[in-house]
Amino acid sequence: MAWRVRVFSELYLSVEPHKSTCAIAIVENERGERLVARVPARYFGKIKQGVEGEVVEEWSVFGKLPVFIPRVQEEYRRVALVTGGSRGIGAAIALEFAKHGFDVVVADIVQDAETEKTLEAIRSHGVRAFFVYMDVSKSESVFKAVDEAVKLAGRIDVLVNNAGITKDTYLERMREEDWDAVINVNLKGAFLCSKAVLPIMKQVGGGVIVNISSIVGLLGNIAQANYAASKAGLIGLTKTLAKELAPYGIRVVAIAPGFAKTRMALAVPSAILQEYMRRIPIPRLVEPEEIAKLVYHVVENEALNGVVIPIDLGTTIASPIA
Ligand SMILES: NC(=O)c1ccc[n+]([C@@H]2O[C@H](COP(=O)([O-])OP(=O)(O)OC[C@H]3O[C@@H](n4cnc5c(N)ncnc54)[C@H](O)[C@@H]3O)[C@@H](O)[C@H]2O)c1
Repeated sequence: MAWRVRVFSELYLSVEPHKSTCAIAIVENERGERLVARVPARYFGKIKQGVEGEVVEEWSVFGKLPVFIPRVQEEYRRVALVTGGSRGIGAAIALEFAKHGFDVVVADIVQDAETEKTLEAIRSHGVRAFFVYMDVSKSESVFKAVDEAVKLAGRIDVLVNNAGITKDTYLERMREEDWDAVINVNLKGAFLCSKAVLPIMKQVGGGVIVNISSIVGLLGNIAQANYAASKAGLIGLTKTLAKELAPYGIRVVAIAPGFAKTRMALAVPSAILQEYMRRIPIPRLVEPEEIAKLVYHVVENEALNGVVIPIDLGTTIASPIA
């Protein structure tokens, strides 16, 4: 039976007993019967007085609740913004979203031949690809780039905080600027980007933030005090934002890859990589495409929130004994 919106209110508040942000509508059917129903936040901006739709009963532990699903055209493509998407793991992630019909914004400090190759590969899947200059460690640059991304792509549904750097050395030799540079890009960058996309995700009724941490953030690693601290910090950020942003329909998840086949890992001295291979159950590097598939899975699997998922060929279960 068709129902029509009589009055509605879009609340950026959680409505008990549910914690999710929603709109509340009074809807009426052809027989003049009225009821109060929740409208999922993804329909924000699309409900007006008179809009037709269906009422479904949603089961919850608090009992059955009427939910109004408006009959509106979903004429947009979802948009993923990937920081550090020019090459390596970021480029693989950008491409994976394109394969699944997302428009993609690559945000990076570098725009070179590799970037152009990545953008071309994205477009070959029939979706739109945009590049925005963004230095994730600088507030002004992040907010400007996110603004530009929304102007170009129209919305942001997924943010992947992937941009990252290393400045490895032993604590005794680690300069203050090595510490600051790594923390500023890897950790502060994710904070700034999350902050910048929040109003946009709230406006479109939800989203997903995926933080690319590392097994080094879980295990620590010699000569990587700055990097390990930044990647462990990302885990705290993930868990906190997962709690804080859930009412807006925004999920936040961290992924912790082991050594992956990119420029970053190949810069590690071969003696260290060989020693690493001797210790892990499956002795090879993780492929960037394997990480990309996991990121896409996280976005589609709505039960994942606030967790850290290692993708590491068994590194985190490897023991020094066996
Ligand atoms: N490669 C690995 O073994 C490995 C393992 C675990 C986690 N990670 C993480 O995965 C992410 C991607 O790493 P990768 O191996 O593809 O590295 P990469 O060096 O190949 O790519 C990093 C990208 O980030 C960009 N970038 C650097 N500083 C930036 C800044 N200030 N603002 C915007 N963009 C910036 C670079 O231009 C580059 O495009 C990083 O966060 C890294 O820490 C990598």
